[in-house]
Amino acid sequence: MPAKIIDGNEIASEIRNELKKSIAGLKSKGVIPGLTVVLVGDDPASQVYVRMKGKACEELGLYSETIRLPADHKEDDLLKLIDDLNANPRIHGILVQLPLPDHIDETKILDRISPEKDVDGFHPVNVGKMLIGDPGFLPCTPHGVQELLIRSGNSPEGKHVVVVGRSNIVGKPVAAILMQKKKGANATVTVCHSRTKDLPSITRQGDIVIAAMGVPQFIKADMVKDGAVVIDVGVNRVDDSSAKKGYRLVGDVDFEAVKEKASAITPVPGGVGPMTIVMLIKNTVISAERTTEHQ
Ligand SMILES: NC(=O)c1ccc[n+]([C@@H]2O[C@H](COP(=O)([O-])OP(=O)(O)OC[C@H]3O[C@@H](n4cnc5c(N)ncnc54)[C@H](OP(=O)(O)O)[C@@H]3O)[C@@H](O)[C@H]2O)c1
Repeated sequence: MPAKIIDGNEIASEIRNELKKSIAGLKSKGVIPGLTVVLVGDDPASQVYVRMKGKACEELGLYSETIRLPADHKEDDLLKLIDDLNANPRIHGILVQLPLPDHIDETKILDRISPEKDVDGFHPVNVGKMLIGDPGFLPCTPHGVQELLIRSGNSPEGKHVVVVGRSNIVGKPVAAILMQKKKGANATVTVCHSRTKDLPSITRQGDIVIAAMGVPQFIKADMVKDGAVVIDVGVNRVDDSSAKKGYRLVGDVDFEAVKEKASAITPVPGGVGPMTIVMLIKNTVISAERTTEHQ
């Protein structure tokens, strides 16, 4: 039987509705959650992501601003901007869109963002908290994957989750989140990467397979077991002369073939992507709520 399609738009909309209540509560205390997105350069994919983030903020009545800087913007000036945003009480979340141009040290920039405003969850303090299971900010895409699993009725508890990819942005944090001794986690996690030997023999053991490699349609039907739950984090542009833009988006999973074997699967687009954005909004709301805790 073909897999159930896990609809990321629908689940993200469910979370947005929950957030409306929290946002209204904050507004009644005179607080409007504020997010600043900093975009350096003109990477086309980044521009799309930044636009989507701004739109999502607007729709929920958050204060949002996008600071667009030229590709040759100086690292020191970017650090100064982050210092100003850290000190700005109107801003509860700061997101520097990655990747940054080569002359800017990404680590230095991410480390400068105050951990209390690090709604992307990439500051080492938040990464450490995630690993030990303390409350901080969880990174948006991996946290979105966990929410997708739970809310689609595919809880990772007690399951063998195979993650393909070990980046700091997706692979490692999703593994860290799902292995926690916590409700909605408690998975047995295997992490694979480009040096993994006989990858298909490992992915076939996964009750849940999470593909986060950045290789178009790499995960084939013979790489997953019958009834597996497949989460496709990949977003890849592939040439398509029949498409208006000359390309189309595909994931890291061969969706058409794998959906015939899996019990549930996320599409691309419309799977993990919308979750990333709503989790960013959620982190910004949480950050704003934390500022009111001692009032
Ligand atoms: N939907 C969203 O919101 C969202 C958010 C973030 C990222 N993404 C997408 O998710 C994908 C992954 O992003 P990323 O930032 O994690 O990518 P990344 O930094 O390039 O990492 C890719 C990982 O996949 C592994 N890998 C690559 N080829 C492999 C192969 N043939 N076999 C096994 N492992 C392989 C790499 O192994 P090594 O470590 O050994 O090199 C690496 O760990 C991309 O398509 C990206 O666009 C989507």
